[in-house]
Parts: sequence; C-alpha cells; structure tokens
Amino acid sequence: MTGPDFAKMQAAAAALEYVEDGMIVGLGTGSTANHFISMLGERVREGLSIGAIPTSEASRRLAASLGIALIEVDQADRIDVTVDGADEVDQYLNLLKGGGGALLREKIIAHATDHLVVIADKSKLVKDLGAFPLPVEVTSFGFTITAKKVFDALRATGCTSADIKLREAGAPGRPFITDNGNYILDCACRHIPDAAATANALNTIPGVVENGIFLAFPRTVRTVLLGHEDGVDMVEV
Ligand code: A5P
Repeated sequence: MTGPDFAKMQAAAAALEYVEDGMIVGLGTGSTANHFISMLGERVREGLSIGAIPTSEASRRLAASLGIALIEVDQADRIDVTVDGADEVDQYLNLLKGGGGALLREKIIAHATDHLVVIADKSKLVKDLGAFPLPVEVTSFGFTITAKKVFDALRATGCTSADIKLREAGAPGRPFITDNGNYILDCACRHIPDAAATANALNTIPGVVENGIFLAFPRTVRTVLLGHEDGVDMVEV
C-alpha cells in the first residue's frame, strides 16, 4: 500500500506507543483516527486494559464493535491521552479540525486531556492555517444572522476573502447535522493570518458553538505524528 492512506496508518501505528495499561484514552474522529481505533482494538483483544471516550457517535460505534471498553464522558474529569486527526497542522502546532464535523466534542476532549497526540499524513503540515475551509459549528436558530457575524469576524481578523457555505448532507438544501444537533458553516478563507485572533473573535459571537481552530495550548503536551512513505516524523510542544 502507498499514498495518503498508508501514511495515515503509519501515524496511527506510532500513536499506539503513547497508550499504556490503565489509561483513559480519548478517541478522535475521521479516517486517520479510525485506523488508530482499529489498531487499538487489536491491542485490547491481546489484553490491553483501557477505558475510551469517543469524540463522535461514529467513533463510538467503531470502538464498541471492536470490544473497546467505553467510558461515559461525564464519568471522567480528565483524560490521559487523546489520539485524533487534523485537517491542517501549522508551524506552531495550531490545528484546523472539523472536516468530519466532530469539532465540538473533539475540542472538549482535547482540553481535558493531559497529552494530545495528533496523527496525520504529512500533507496536512502547512505554514499557516486556512487553505482547508474552517468549520464553525453554529446553532440552527438564527444561522443566517450568525453567518453574517462570522463573515464580519473573519474579515476583522485578516481573512479578507472568506466564502461561507452551510455544510450539506448528501442532498442540496439538506443541512448536515452534527452529533450535537447543530449546523456547520464551512468558511473558505484561503489564509488565516492570525489563528488566535480569528478563533477568539469567532467564539464571542452568539450562535457560534465552537470553531475548528485548536490553538496550541501551553499547558497541554501536544505531539504531532506525521506519517509518510518512509516512516513517521514527530514534532512536539
Ligand atoms: C473530524 O471532525 C476532524 O477534526 C478530523 O479529525 C479531521 O477531519 C481529519 O480527518 P481525516 O483523518 O479523515 O483526514
């Protein structure tokens, strides 16, 4: 096997090294996280004992089908390690996430985690965020008003060419609904010059539930594992 899927599997396999017996493990969402969950399932069958908290219903179903023991999110006040994918990783290890629509739960879990391990193929590494459209989760009530405020906030923080689309689910006019019952606005910015300013401005808007910029928090250890044809590169803050 070659190409991005092989690279994702390489990164997922490397992330297994961060999981130890007895840990509470956050399970990310997306194709790379799915590789990790499948590999973790094999370890569990071999005797590894962990409790897992999934970041989406899709990851919950996959983990349950593999016999991974699940913990209800409100039964834990912290998580040892979370392994999750990303749509972009910038030079400071800020992340852009939410391509799979799970950004809110992913961010709640990431914030509660001692060690966040990000797994991706190397093509996700960028200088600055923004080539991938930024997902913003919003309430369905008033989403058109919220979209206008989101546009203004993006412009005010240097994203001068933002193009905002309501994410659809398969059919035109049918909105994608997140696991939390909300909508997603995909904001094509091309370039986000100040990720912190944009993330903070978006989250002051009533109607915005969460945005897909995961700033590199100083108090959380963040390891990024970038898979490629010849192995895995590791970057840490
Ligand atoms: C899910 O909402 C996202 O944050 C994913 O982590 C991200 O889209 C990466 O997905 P892939 O691993 O499928 O590229």
